[in-house]
Amino acid sequence: MTDMAERVVGLGLIGCGARLTGVIERVIEKTSGLRVVALCDPSEIAIAQCRERLDCPDAALHEDHRALSADPSVDWVCVGSWNCFHKEHILGAFAAGKHVFTEKPLVTTMEDAVELKAAVEGTDRLFSMGFVLRYAPFYQRIKALLDEGVIGQMVSFEFNETLDFNHGGYIMSDWRRQRANAGTHLLEKCSHDVDLMNWLTESVPVRVASFGGLSFFTPENAHQIERIGTDGEGREAYKSWQSMGIYTRVQKLNPFTAEKDIIDNQVGILEYANGTRATFHTDLNTAMPERRVYICGTEGTLRGDVLTGQLEWRRIGFDTELHKEETVGGGHGGADGILADSLRESMLNGTAPLVGLEDGMKASVACFGLDAALDSGTVVDLRPMWAQVNVTP
Ligand SMILES: NC(=O)c1ccc[n+]([C@@H]2O[C@H](COP(=O)([O-])OP(=O)(O)OC[C@H]3O[C@@H](n4cnc5c(N)ncnc54)[C@H](O)[C@@H]3O)[C@@H](O)[C@H]2O)c1
Repeated sequence: MTDMAERVVGLGLIGCGARLTGVIERVIEKTSGLRVVALCDPSEIAIAQCRERLDCPDAALHEDHRALSADPSVDWVCVGSWNCFHKEHILGAFAAGKHVFTEKPLVTTMEDAVELKAAVEGTDRLFSMGFVLRYAPFYQRIKALLDEGVIGQMVSFEFNETLDFNHGGYIMSDWRRQRANAGTHLLEKCSHDVDLMNWLTESVPVRVASFGGLSFFTPENAHQIERIGTDGEGREAYKSWQSMGIYTRVQKLNPFTAEKDIIDNQVGILEYANGTRATFHTDLNTAMPERRVYICGTEGTLRGDVLTGQLEWRRIGFDTELHKEETVGGGHGGADGILADSLRESMLNGTAPLVGLEDGMKASVACFGLDAALDSGTVVDLRPMWAQVNVTP
């Protein structure tokens, strides 16, 4: 990294949509040591927006991701494309010897997980995963409290991620509504939460079961758009987020009638290799969105919600104190800037990323297990899947 510290580090962006442009905007805003030098995206709208927002009018435009990775001015390849392309974009970058930042999820199929694992074993390149919630003060505080032993040993816990109805409508009218593009909803949206569950337990799930389905975003419920009406800016219910996405803005699909093959509600139960047991619940049509945790330990209990930033815990015993703490709330719990600071450090000084490829792999495989359980209606033993990616549970 010595020579990189002496010159401007070049960033090449593959998939220049909303998320990656937002991440890189924060990364480059506090330094002159990083510059966006190359772009690759089939959407002219995305390229134009990205050039303007990241102030990189002269960045080279590459039609092929391999050409971008081979570009000698690119030091870091940043991947924000549709999930189904992440594997080939990451492999292309590694093949060209570049460092990688990728948005979640790492891969969308078990075959891709096995291929990626084999291809990158032994690489000395840096790899950073966009599991932004890992950087959130809320989850960092929970991990610290667990490590301090304030609730003793973790025994069982509940996690959820339930979405505002307009967010649900966005997903159901975006490219994410099809597994071929994004993988399942659990993988695309909740792999954040599954990663957090793996991290907090310091284990991986070995037996899982799951039920789920498409119960609400069906043509029979399209009248719900009219029932609710419009918001203060005249935007229709379930469509009010559509102006934010390039795909949704152009396609203008009705979230109820658009063809899709993802679920809109799912529950899962998990048993971890270390004996911890958990439930996970997601729903895409709620009036009270939550990203809530409730953890029971041998000596205490902890609960909170990252959307509010409120956290409370209490030791088991007579008249023990209820500790109430307030961390940063909001969608990502204030983590976007912290992730950007960390990524900037990695890019400028070679600092090891907080979340890497192994974490991305474990989150993807755990999601594959839960979805295999949902699809098959059986309890799935994940041990053979972990063996395929050389993870010892
Ligand atoms: N960490 C987070 O909190 C978070 C939040 C949102 C999205 N994401 C992830 O970011 C990624 C992008 O999501 P988004 O919301 O920005 O979607 P988006 O639709 O705004 O952007 C995706 C971009 O990828 C481009 N693209 C598609 N196929 C491509 C290809 N083969 N080569 C190059 N570019 C291609 C599209 O044209 C589009 O511009 C996804 O993987 C998603 O899971 C992460």
